[in-house]
Amino acid sequence: MNTSIVRPFAVISGAQVQHVLLGCEKQIVELVEAAYRLHGAGETVNPPSYFLRFPDRPASRIIALPASLGGTFQVAGLKWISSFPGNVELGVPRASAVLILNDHDTGYPFACLESSIISATRTAASAALAADWLSRGRGRPTRVGFFGAGLIARYIHTYLSGTGWSFDEIGIHDLSADSACGFRGYLERSGTTGRITVCESPDQLIRSSDLVVFATVVAQPHVRDLSWFAHNPLVLHVSLRDLTPPIVLASTNIVDDVDHCLKADTSPHLAEQLTGNRDFLHGTLADVIAGQVTVDEGRPVVFSPFGLGVLDLAVGKYVYDEVARSSQLHVVDDFFHELRRYG
Ligand SMILES: NC(=O)c1ccc[n+]([C@@H]2O[C@H](COP(=O)([O-])OP(=O)(O)OC[C@H]3O[C@@H](n4cnc5c(N)ncnc54)[C@H](O)[C@@H]3O)[C@@H](O)[C@H]2O)c1
Repeated sequence: MNTSIVRPFAVISGAQVQHVLLGCEKQIVELVEAAYRLHGAGETVNPPSYFLRFPDRPASRIIALPASLGGTFQVAGLKWISSFPGNVELGVPRASAVLILNDHDTGYPFACLESSIISATRTAASAALAADWLSRGRGRPTRVGFFGAGLIARYIHTYLSGTGWSFDEIGIHDLSADSACGFRGYLERSGTTGRITVCESPDQLIRSSDLVVFATVVAQPHVRDLSWFAHNPLVLHVSLRDLTPPIVLASTNIVDDVDHCLKADTSPHLAEQLTGNRDFLHGTLADVIAGQVTVDEGRPVVFSPFGLGVLDLAVGKYVYDEVARSSQLHVVDDFFHELRRYG
């Protein structure tokens, strides 16, 4: 009986994850691009996310994202991520997560990684990648506006800066003065040279930004005035439910995956329900990267990423490999303890 084919099971802490990922923005955006290309080429399996909801706590949820990623990654796994927006008032981040990696050949799980950092990182890397590809025909935005200024907004700014973006103007709009102030403090500490403005009104933020990042936690669309978008900004609609259908319908819409994104009452899903078709969708980010879709400069461009489990796998496997390479894996001895079929 050969028990050595089962890899030892490792637990990777948030501190280890953060240590590996610090300063690696360019590599991670390349990894995320590779994962999108594989997804576009059909070398992934990415079933629908499963939402666990609670009747007594409707604002909260835990989502399971199973996935398998081919190419050079050759790994499967599951992200299990909670969103409890009330956590912020208690002084801890909204989201918490673990990522399980499964061996390609045996299916055995071989690692459990703290994954709130991996999830925020892949989300930010995907946003920076989209901003790059979707601005190629229109000139790089120099005025960015963050609509919702929590942890994800911070990661997206870090990823934009870490991949060569700089801004003359940085706008912030948040319903919470504490969040706006905290984000401003982060920006100042990050050494940004752009002028920072906290905008009291949403229209002031949108009208003054040529790159708009939505990272709120709203459940239903609240941005309805199409005239705020008359300057045709590039919109990273990371929180997915901010824009009313008329704004979606007046824009060029790029998603990460059509079937994923047209679910769970996202703004594109509401636009589909309103029109009864998907004609307003122009393609996926993988299509844009492959040169199969060109982006109309004469309209707002909205990128709505549902968030694919394959991106978590790409980043999680990178972290695992780096921790293993530096011999820092915390292995749980005897984790699998029934490896002889007949005892
Ligand atoms: N698409 C993806 O792949 C993906 C991945 C991760 C997170 N997300 C989404 O990103 C969003 C932000 O996550 P986070 O961890 O930064 O949350 P967070 O709670 O840290 O921050 C959200 C901020 O939005 C502000 N806000 C809420 N409603 C607002 C409104 N109407 N106008 C202005 N500001 C408002 C809040 O005050 C808060 O500061 C969430 O919706 C989350 O689901 C998406």
